[in-house]
Amino acid sequence: MTPGSGSAFTAPLAAAAATLAAWALAGTGAALAVLAVLAGAIVAFHLWNQHLVRRWAFGSLDAPVPEGRGSWRGVFTAIHRRMRLRAQHQRDLRLTIERFRRAAEAIPDGVIVLDAHDLIDWANPRACEQLGLDLARDRHAPIVNLVRQPEFLAYVAAGNFAESVSVTTIGERRRTLSLQLVPFGTREKLLLSHDVTQVEAAARMRRDFIANVSHELKTPLTVIAGFVETMQDLDLDARQRARYLGLMAEQARNMQRLVADLLTLSSLESEHSPGGDERFAVLPLLVQASADARALSGGRHAVEVDPGAAATVDGNRDEIASVLSNLLSNAVRYTPEGGRISLSWRVEPSGIGVFAIADTGIGIAAEHLPRLTERFYRVDRSRSRATGGTGLGLAIVKHVLLRHQAELGIVSEPGRGSVFSVRLPARRVRAAPLGDGPPAEDATTSTSSHSGTGS
Ligand SMILES: Nc1ncnc2c1ncn2[C@@H]1O[C@H](COP(=O)(O)OP(=O)(O)OP(=O)(O)O)[C@@H](O)[C@H]1O
Ligand SMILES: [Mg+2]
Repeated sequence: MTPGSGSAFTAPLAAAAATLAAWALAGTGAALAVLAVLAGAIVAFHLWNQHLVRRWAFGSLDAPVPEGRGSWRGVFTAIHRRMRLRAQHQRDLRLTIERFRRAAEAIPDGVIVLDAHDLIDWANPRACEQLGLDLARDRHAPIVNLVRQPEFLAYVAAGNFAESVSVTTIGERRRTLSLQLVPFGTREKLLLSHDVTQVEAAARMRRDFIANVSHELKTPLTVIAGFVETMQDLDLDARQRARYLGLMAEQARNMQRLVADLLTLSSLESEHSPGGDERFAVLPLLVQASADARALSGGRHAVEVDPGAAATVDGNRDEIASVLSNLLSNAVRYTPEGGRISLSWRVEPSGIGVFAIADTGIGIAAEHLPRLTERFYRVDRSRSRATGGTGLGLAIVKHVLLRHQAELGIVSEPGRGSVFSVRLPARRVRAAPLGDGPPAEDATTSTSSHSGTGS
């Protein structure tokens, strides 16, 4: 017996009792009349409830379960309970599907669901953005109509989806995508797309870099090998031997410089922040850098220093010194004899500290300025090589400045000269001097000192 079914017997039993009572009290006729009325009422009650069930079952899906009475109450309650459980189950399912959809949308790669005929069924926003799809328009369109790169069409036709295929997108933002089809279910597929533009660019940079380094090493090595052969084949006198050995030593020094610069760059690139921040006084740095520049110039230029306001800088002293030395060595090497080179320091009202290295040298045409800090970029290769340049100086400068959140400014005019300025953020600059620099008179002396022919 199902729960509640006991109440189904209550009405027939009551009708039977009433019929018996009528028979005992008023005879057979009255008993039959009572029985007929009560049996009719019971049948009408059941027919009405059947009608309620039928109306509900054939009605709209979200129609409420009717209220039952008497023996039907249990039936309706059970149906109601079942409907509630089903609704709960459906809500859970909807939430699960929604969670999966949100997860698929959040994936940083593109995901497209294709049906058995390779028609687009669904795509996450990343896939739409990468492949220029619009789900409202492209849903149920064949994927091969929308991704038309020949490499992809060949990949689909070949049917071997163990590997991915690289395609380059067209349009305003060219990028390289790695696409892979993954079969699932009976005959459906997932199309996964991954943006590999950066990876490709890094691989290209690596290839270019290796080609550049090999090229840079080839020239001195060819020169050295040529001299070695000459010395092996010919009987040279002492003077010739000395000359050849001198030239070979010069090429060896070029290679040493190149390797040293490469090592510096690689160590700068492998750490993101300057190792060992310290506070150092600006003045001694200016004094040392200008002395080095004078030594390099060997009296061919006038080297001036304007020390500006006394200040200290928080940063890596050796790295900042290498920046000044690179910029000053460029100024010396790209300024003809008799030119003027100046090194200055100032603190702007905003607190930004600026080193400026100005020269009256050959200058740089505007089209070269944006590429100047690229590795191995030289305006005039032969001139740079002739002065022992590796083309890595400004790349090193850029990296050091990046690590100090500083900026490099270049203003230049061909034939008139250049100004390279290094702008250090205000939080790295303090007006208070440290007591470890030389006395101020030293700076004044070096400011006015001239070690060249002047201009
Ligand atoms: N002060 C300057 N005046 C004119 N041209 C300059 C100046 N500084 C740099 N350049 C140009 O920028 C190029 C790149 O400079 P960078 O310092 O990176 O390399 P480099 O001087 O050739 O070699 P090195 O690695 O020895 O410094 C130089 O080859 C030169 O053409
Ligand atoms: Mg240089």
